[in-house]
Amino acid sequence: MATVTFEHVFKRYGDVTAVNDLSLEIQDEEFLVLVGPSGCGKTTALRMIAGLEDVSAGELKIGDRVVNNLAPKDRDVAMVFQSYALYPHMSVFDNMAFGLKLRKMPKAEIDKRVREAAATIELTNLLDRKPKQLSGGQRQRVALGRAIVREPAVFLMDEPLSNLDAKLRVQTRAEIARLHQRLRTTVVYVTHDQVEAMTMGDRIAVMNFGVLQQVGSPQELYQHPVNKFVAGFIGSPAMNFINVTPKTEDGTLKVVGEGFELPVPDSLKSAVENAATELTAGVRPEHFEIMNGAAPGAGAHVRATCDVVEFLGNEELLHLRVGQHDLVAVVDAAFRVKPGDVVEMFVPIDKIALFDSADGKALR
Ligand SMILES: Nc1ncnc2c1ncn2[C@@H]1O[C@H](COP(=O)(O)OP(=O)(O)O)[C@@H](O)[C@H]1O
Ligand SMILES: [Mg+2]
Repeated sequence: MATVTFEHVFKRYGDVTAVNDLSLEIQDEEFLVLVGPSGCGKTTALRMIAGLEDVSAGELKIGDRVVNNLAPKDRDVAMVFQSYALYPHMSVFDNMAFGLKLRKMPKAEIDKRVREAAATIELTNLLDRKPKQLSGGQRQRVALGRAIVREPAVFLMDEPLSNLDAKLRVQTRAEIARLHQRLRTTVVYVTHDQVEAMTMGDRIAVMNFGVLQQVGSPQELYQHPVNKFVAGFIGSPAMNFINVTPKTEDGTLKVVGEGFELPVPDSLKSAVENAATELTAGVRPEHFEIMNGAAPGAGAHVRATCDVVEFLGNEELLHLRVGQHDLVAVVDAAFRVKPGDVVEMFVPIDKIALFDSADGKALR
């Protein structure tokens, strides 16, 4: 069992700063997901924990021990790679046993650990097979099994599901979550997929261009993103952004944009008054409500023209146009909106985020 702590960690490759001043404390037994677009430094951060990359500056700790200069084999971590990297000529059993044999573990202990791990992830019937006789999902389980038998203090996983088809990905996602509940080991899990991050993580750390943007529970990131990047990255379909400017009308402070008007909530009044004039309002697709008569309370009014309707069963996904903006709304399919319809929509005031357009920071 162990914590993992980054303290002002940098990783530079020549001119490229792959990880830029990362400070992050991963708790014991936590499932932490490191998420962000391709090239943002996720793999580099993970490889530094594994000891496969040197730390350029700062301090990296596992438990209380600074590991900057500790050899990978002495770190008590196990890594599962995106490419499973199984030995093709070895059986499943031997693939799982290989690392333990290298460590000169007694044969009986190896046998016990491999069989226990195989039972945990349902590989018992496949132990004699070679990797080429396995499906993609089964190979992925062998790669997991090889990490499990090590009984490491920390599991590191780098996009372990990305080579699986959509259905298997959902299944294996749940399997890994169950495995974590059973083993109660610290897991650092890297993915570019925000759905994986939201569904698997106890906490999520969002990175962009090597810089940590925000760390928090899935709910915190969804409800209180610190900036436009996190707001747009977390959530599917993505948050809508509308350019707005502050305006006082009849003594009421509002933000207005094309087809959009919102009385500023009291909690944000001073932030709006102090902010630059260019603001961005953020609305999640699922928070639009089609108006049916009077507005149900305080909130934003949006008047948009429907472009395309995607029927999803119980819901409809509407592509709408408001001036220069394309918006996406998810509404109850009972409304039967048609292309060309002008739709009056409402967004409850507590569901709207406001950002400073210049630096992207959320107004608080
Ligand atoms: N060995 C390397 N040499 C030079 N640049 C690298 C090396 N490894 C990664 N990088 C660069 O560091 C940045 C982060 O890469 P990486 O950590 O692999 O991103 P991610 O895993 O988030 O896609 C990228 O710009 C990448 O090109
Ligand atoms: Mg990567």
